[in-house]
Amino acid sequence: NMLTMEPYGACCKVIIVFLCFPAIRTDITCRNEAGEPVDWFVVYKLPKEFGSGLGYMYLDSAVETWQMSQFTVNTSEGAIGLTLNQLYLGQAYMSNSTVYAMYNDGPPDMDYLKGYGHTKGVLLFDHAQGFWLSHSVPHFPYFPERGYQYPSSGKLNGQTALCMTYKYRQFPIIARQLVYLIPRVYNCSVPSSFLDDFADLAQLCEGSKFPLPSSSKNIESLLSAKGEEFVHFAKSERFVDDIYTGWVAQELGTDLLVETWQRQNRELPSNCSLENHAMNVQKVCLPGPTLFESRHDHSKWCVSTGLEDQWACVGDLNRERAQVNRAGGLLCTRNPFVYKAFRQVVSSYKDC
Ligand SMILES: *[C@@H]1O[C@H](CO)[C@@H](O)[C@H](O)[C@H]1NC(C)=O
Ligand SMILES: *[C@@H]1O[C@H](CO)[C@@H](O)[C@H](O)[C@H]1NC(C)=O
Ligand SMILES: *[C@@H]1O[C@H](CO)[C@@H](O)[C@H](O)[C@H]1NC(C)=O
Ligand SMILES: *[C@@H]1O[C@H](CO)[C@@H](O)[C@H](O)[C@H]1NC(C)=O
Repeated sequence: NMLTMEPYGACCKVIIVFLCFPAIRTDITCRNEAGEPVDWFVVYKLPKEFGSGLGYMYLDSAVETWQMSQFTVNTSEGAIGLTLNQLYLGQAYMSNSTVYAMYNDGPPDMDYLKGYGHTKGVLLFDHAQGFWLSHSVPHFPYFPERGYQYPSSGKLNGQTALCMTYKYRQFPIIARQLVYLIPRVYNCSVPSSFLDDFADLAQLCEGSKFPLPSSSKNIESLLSAKGEEFVHFAKSERFVDDIYTGWVAQELGTDLLVETWQRQNRELPSNCSLENHAMNVQKVCLPGPTLFESRHDHSKWCVSTGLEDQWACVGDLNRERAQVNRAGGLLCTRNPFVYKAFRQVVSSYKDC
């Protein structure tokens, strides 16, 4: 009798586990425009001069070139919303088997505070894997209890977002890079089973600023779940220099065309005084054609001038005097599709 009951009992347990914890069976990952897992994606939101200020271009490892999205960023039907819904709808924020952190120098419903890095993003992962979304949208995303929403202040200018899927082992490296960035973590959870690997993130999560590392900057190579390499540059406020000219161009050994928010009389001029140059993009032309000036674009990215170098980076900082002493980072890749997508949309730049 016992012998016949036992397999039946084991089967029941399996069913109960599936019913109670459906989230355990779903990998946390970046999601594409159809909600399917994707290794990485890039979003380029258009400035408000082209309609509602909510339309965007989309690119990922399968799509390869910019596609105008059929969705708008204020709904959770597109890639950003579908990706963040793993936090909002899955209630992963209440789970003790997932870590998450939302950081933004301008959090939702709060004033800007001095002393934090000029950096914005979201991490969500469990013991297997998760995603890192790095973006340039102020006051975004909302607190988990409020669900997915897009702030009206994020409509006016262009914005960029880069989502990358990583296995668990990459996240301690990412967390240590975040320490350099002095992120303003406004909502987060680091459950106790993660504390051994994430003492630093737990401290950031508690709202205390982590003691700055002794060096002022650090580079780490990160491998995505599917093996794409992203090189992360992180500088603290102690590295007082323009990240593009003073570090990234020289480190990568490439001349860069840099597209950042350029407000009059605040921008750093194109700079060719070091071996590798950093020159300001003036106009961007996305497919459409959608032509806009850098002062209408709150994105922060750069590309190698010459095709042979193939670097494209997306990140946190503007080429602006005031941001020379801010903490922030850049994520760079030599993926040929990302490179072409950004290089081809440079409509004009200011040579030295
Ligand atoms: C998104 O914005 C559009 C245009 O302003 C609006 O018509 C739509 O109702 C908004 N959707 C949501 C879910 O907020
Ligand atoms: C995590 O939560 C589950 C369910 O609430 C609980 O049984 C378990 O003891 C918790 N684990 C830890 C390490 O807190
Ligand atoms: C932020 O996160 C914590 C822990 O995940 C949660 O309990 C809290 O209610 C959240 N919301 C706000 C508005 O702080
Ligand atoms: C060019 O950039 C370097 C590194 O940021 C800086 O030291 C130098 O002063 C800049 N030159 C000019 C002419 O702005």
